[in-house]
Amino acid sequence: MAQFQISGFAIVVGAAGGIGKEVGLTFAEAGAKGVLFADINYEGVTEAAEASKAIATSPNYRALSVKVDVVDVNSVQEMIDLAAKEFGRIDYCINAAGVDVAEYVPFDETTPEDYDRVLDINTKNIFLVTKAVVKVMQNQQPTQNNLGRHGIRDLGRGSIVNISSVMAFGAVPHKLPYTTSKHAITGITRACALDYKLAGIRCNQVCPIWVKTPMLVEESKRLPGVPGLIEKLTPFKRPIEPDEVASACVYLCSPSAVNISGSSVILDSGLMSGFSL
Ligand SMILES: NC(=O)c1ccc[n+]([C@@H]2O[C@H](COP(=O)([O-])OP(=O)(O)OC[C@H]3O[C@@H](n4cnc5c(N)ncnc54)[C@H](O)[C@@H]3O)[C@@H](O)[C@H]2O)c1
Repeated sequence: MAQFQISGFAIVVGAAGGIGKEVGLTFAEAGAKGVLFADINYEGVTEAAEASKAIATSPNYRALSVKVDVVDVNSVQEMIDLAAKEFGRIDYCINAAGVDVAEYVPFDETTPEDYDRVLDINTKNIFLVTKAVVKVMQNQQPTQNNLGRHGIRDLGRGSIVNISSVMAFGAVPHKLPYTTSKHAITGITRACALDYKLAGIRCNQVCPIWVKTPMLVEESKRLPGVPGLIEKLTPFKRPIEPDEVASACVYLCSPSAVNISGSSVILDSGLMSGFSL
């Protein structure tokens, strides 16, 4: 259930499953007028868009789906053009596409091919999508929201949220390309926030530790020690649920967060405060 309310049109990239799908569904539930579900997996986004119709709370809610390859400039532009044409404006853009490393190997065994692949899909994608979406956001009218006893609040022209990771701030063994890609998202997020501050476009990142998605299932198959580690190190002995990440995204796009930009919401299950023995 969405804890914060929003009222505009959203694009969610990487929305066929895992975190992105849940973000799209939560935006529909939180009052979005429309959500475009985009992913390289077209079947997945078509199903997600259909499912969102049953839980959307805005009258006349519209769900769209599109196939996008986030490393292809033309494909990204077509996705943004579709949203701008069908919705008339884009208020929220959530970048949730991502991949893990091909092999868990030390630094010197990492191949340049895997380094490029992971950096392209996890980081360059955010550059390409952001570059295209801010052009739409800059040219649309700012919005306002009536917050009742708090009065009318300016919401600006748009809000971008990048799904990063706690690995934006630290490393784990044998994941050089992934770690590098997530550190770089901090730079992209801050650069975007600064360049568009005066245009009323905000950009933030959400940085979770383990989240219960197909990516974690796959990691746990390849590294069988991971579930035990999660049980040992997290306060509730479980990974983060995708809806907990989605709620952070809705919050960052809500009227309550209009003064937050270039920032990070860290969902770390308390790990960054240190280890207890
Ligand atoms: N699951 C975790 O434990 C965890 C923890 C921290 C951060 N993250 C990050 O969250 C984001 C989402 O991950 P997830 O766990 O939901 O994984 P997931 O594998 O369930 O979803 C990733 C989505 O990205 C899509 N995608 C991959 N390549 C693409 C491309 N070229 N073009 C378009 N779409 C593409 C996939 O089809 C998939 O639907 C990733 O950036 C990941 O690094 C995940």
